[in-house]
Amino acid sequence: MKKLWGGRFSKTPAQWIEEFGASITFDQALVLEDIEGSLAHVNMLGSCGIISQEESKTISDGLKRLQEKAVNGKLVFSVSEEDIHLNLEKMLLDDIGPVAGKLHTGRSRNDQVATDMHLYLKKCVITMIELLKEMQTSLIEQAEQHIETAIPGYTHLQRAQPVSFAHHLLAYFWMLERDKERFQESLKRIDLSPLGASALAGTTFPIDRAYTAKLLGFSQIYENSMDAVSDRDYIVEFLSNASLTMTHLSRLAEEIILWSSQEFQFIELDDTYATGSSIMPQKKNPDMAELIRGKTGRVYGHLMSLLTVLKGLPLSYNKDMQEDKEGMFDTVETLSGSLKIFAGMIKTMTVRKDVMEQAVHRDFSNATELADYLANKGMPFRQAHEIVGKLVFTCIQKGCYLQDLTLEELQDGAAQIEGDVFEILSPHRAIKRRNSYGGTGFQQVEKQLEKAKQSLSKAMS
Ligand code: ARG
Repeated sequence: MKKLWGGRFSKTPAQWIEEFGASITFDQALVLEDIEGSLAHVNMLGSCGIISQEESKTISDGLKRLQEKAVNGKLVFSVSEEDIHLNLEKMLLDDIGPVAGKLHTGRSRNDQVATDMHLYLKKCVITMIELLKEMQTSLIEQAEQHIETAIPGYTHLQRAQPVSFAHHLLAYFWMLERDKERFQESLKRIDLSPLGASALAGTTFPIDRAYTAKLLGFSQIYENSMDAVSDRDYIVEFLSNASLTMTHLSRLAEEIILWSSQEFQFIELDDTYATGSSIMPQKKNPDMAELIRGKTGRVYGHLMSLLTVLKGLPLSYNKDMQEDKEGMFDTVETLSGSLKIFAGMIKTMTVRKDVMEQAVHRDFSNATELADYLANKGMPFRQAHEIVGKLVFTCIQKGCYLQDLTLEELQDGAAQIEGDVFEILSPHRAIKRRNSYGGTGFQQVEKQLEKAKQSLSKAMS
């Protein structure tokens, strides 16, 4: 079939070659952005007198008809028209005749595709920020219920010191807060218009780039036409921000998986976020959390892939850049899906407070308490550490915990130990006393929760 760019060609490519080069199978996701960009461009061509007002209106009306069909899913795309831009131009030609050819005046697919991607990503980033907020809301809601729920805090995945479960959850709130900030800041670099850069060098037509930018809702325009068509930094940045968010989700996914295991039993996932086994009737698997942990890998892959595509590309547009799309679309889908799942999974999970409490009462996570107790009595901390370490060793040999030792046994370790020591050894007391700024002390956690809520409501207004 004759190509829209076919003038200088005497042969057309074989179908499989066409298929290899085509992007329509995936860039049809940009259909609405492409029409939006064309509407702005043709409006500008008319108002700058580059084409007549009448021609502008005919093209515009044709584009609006395509828009309506696109919204209703009525457009049928063809691989022989290569990409979304040529598919739409061909459809317009079929509808309004040769005047359709005037739409591309002073424009190239190079600034056109860049415009589409900017419009698309801007919307997606705003959606990601909203979804991050939803997940933060779930974390806050659970945290509010569990300020005074004690859970073992871990380092090296070994019991370290007891913490408030709310404190643990809120750590993720702040990670997401930074993610949100990063997405928000990236908008500044997405929100600029490449339209009018044309193929690479600008155009001889008296176009008005500021006008199209305004129509499209962009707050700035690219200063350099070659940069405008070659820049994919904003996509790399999006993939990088998405990768970091996925890292955070993956870490929490890992904890959800551990916590819902028979070994921990700290939480139970709602049935709607778990699945069974086809062979083992007893199983309740945390599939969604596992999948999110797994999908993190593909998002990292997309980031690495685009960086590699761009590395070594000479200015300005190169067809390699068509490879920017699938990874970006997939990342949008993966990240938004993961955030939605997480918001629901956190909100609906059952927290087994009783099991958490039992856990903190049957471990050595109060050992630092005892060392601090001795240090408070004037003993150098290093010496206190040594003594408590020996007491722990005694316990291990006896098969008990520090709080199970008698006062006399404790005093064998250090004569300074008195009867008040048992109160010190209580995990709740240990948590309560960590009242340093940002610590797990209940009072601090309440303050932290207040701050978290404030940040969230500020971001919402
Ligand atoms: N499908 C192309 C892409 O996604 C559109 C731009 C094509 N430009 C060109 N000069 N071949 O990058």
